[in-house]
Amino acid sequence: MPTLGGNIVSGNRSARDEPAGRLLRHLLGDEGRRDPYPVYRRLHDLGPVAALPDGNRYAAVVHGHDAVGQALRDDNLRVLDAAYLDRAGTRWREHPAVRTLQSSLFHASGAKLAYVRRLFGQAFGPTRVTALEPMLDRITGALLDRLAALGANGTPVDFMAEFALRLPSDVIGELFGVPASDRSWFPSRVAAFDAVIEVGQRPFREVRAADAAAEELTAYFADLLATRRADPGDDLVSALATTDTGLTEVELLASLVIVFNAGFRTTTNLLGNGLRLLVDHPELLAALREDHALAPAYVEEILRLEPAVHVATRYAVETTDIAGVSIPEGRPVVILTGAANRDPRRFPDPDRFDPTRADNHHYSFSAGPHFCIGAALGRAETGLALPRLLSRFPSLALASPPGPRRHLVLRGYDRLELLLRKGLPG
Ligand code: HEM
Repeated sequence: MPTLGGNIVSGNRSARDEPAGRLLRHLLGDEGRRDPYPVYRRLHDLGPVAALPDGNRYAAVVHGHDAVGQALRDDNLRVLDAAYLDRAGTRWREHPAVRTLQSSLFHASGAKLAYVRRLFGQAFGPTRVTALEPMLDRITGALLDRLAALGANGTPVDFMAEFALRLPSDVIGELFGVPASDRSWFPSRVAAFDAVIEVGQRPFREVRAADAAAEELTAYFADLLATRRADPGDDLVSALATTDTGLTEVELLASLVIVFNAGFRTTTNLLGNGLRLLVDHPELLAALREDHALAPAYVEEILRLEPAVHVATRYAVETTDIAGVSIPEGRPVVILTGAANRDPRRFPDPDRFDPTRADNHHYSFSAGPHFCIGAALGRAETGLALPRLLSRFPSLALASPPGPRRHLVLRGYDRLELLLRKGLPG
């Protein structure tokens, strides 16, 4: 299996008996990915940061709430950029998917990162998102109509494919000016590309599919840029096509692919994870159905408890102290935002779904220089869609138990079969 982003934990003998090393290996195995929470609980018993002995891929696991905040905001900890990957000896340049990530804002830092974030952020900032509400409302309404038609006569409907994937795809498609007729082309490519951002080794066939998807997505946006340069519209791609961005064409295209992808399955998974939590808590579900104004607090608690992204990786550009643990220069750390969200020192009864929590500060959108630029949009999409879904289908129920969630980055269900029965329960 090829090594791409450097996200691999080696299992050498000296590390084998180390509790934190063992826990991390377990977390990155099939069982840990399916249910990471027992590992998080045990890591919290070890303190906020656990150093890993020499021989491990990572220098430490950072999982305490305050330590995660410190690590994400520390300028000495950088995303695994080209300088890191070159030093680690990976052959990343042979892979179009990794080249795309590396040329995009995702792996930029310093002034360049701040500049590209401003360039793209104009389309997704909180003020702009408020102005987008009528568009979100229209798209949500059309997709609910579609669900109703598909689920008529008690036919089970897959919420993920028929709603949760389509909503963010239609929204980001409109923002980017992707013609509606092209939108069904994206989901399979975006899913294939996303394999490279999952933590851990990926099978070779997934890497090949991600590389092919990166090339196709890049070619698509190159065409769209050319079209909009000749005939601009009122959308983000037109705005970027007609501005002197100061970016090379490769950098601009890479950031278009990455921002488009980032706005897609994150929200998809938040919708699915949130719906499952609500179905499992019928009283809380009924309260949201009756009072849509509760939605923002529900969305924050869904984000905290079942985030779409559980992990970030960084490396130390110079030796750095995180909560008393020294991270040597050049060494990477794994930052478990999903664990920070359930730190018992920060959240009373952390595993309980409680949308009335005060001061519900989670790290599901990261923090510091890479804080998610689509946070306001993701919140708005989820906060609008979930209560409207509940009101439209007041007695919706799962048609069958959903399969496991298998990833820590882009963590969500493959399918969520619903029965959209009419009338109130019971
Ligand atoms: C609810 C859904 C979302 C979640 C849970 C989420 C989560 C995240 C997280 C955790 C990161 C930081 C990764 C890191 O620190 O290494 C991030 C970054 C990012 N997100 Fe989101 N995101 C969501 C929605 C969106 C949307 C809708 C967009 C775009 C419209 C978007 C665009 C981005 C971009 C471009 C970055 C990279 C920022 C940078 O590197 O400076 N996200 N997101």
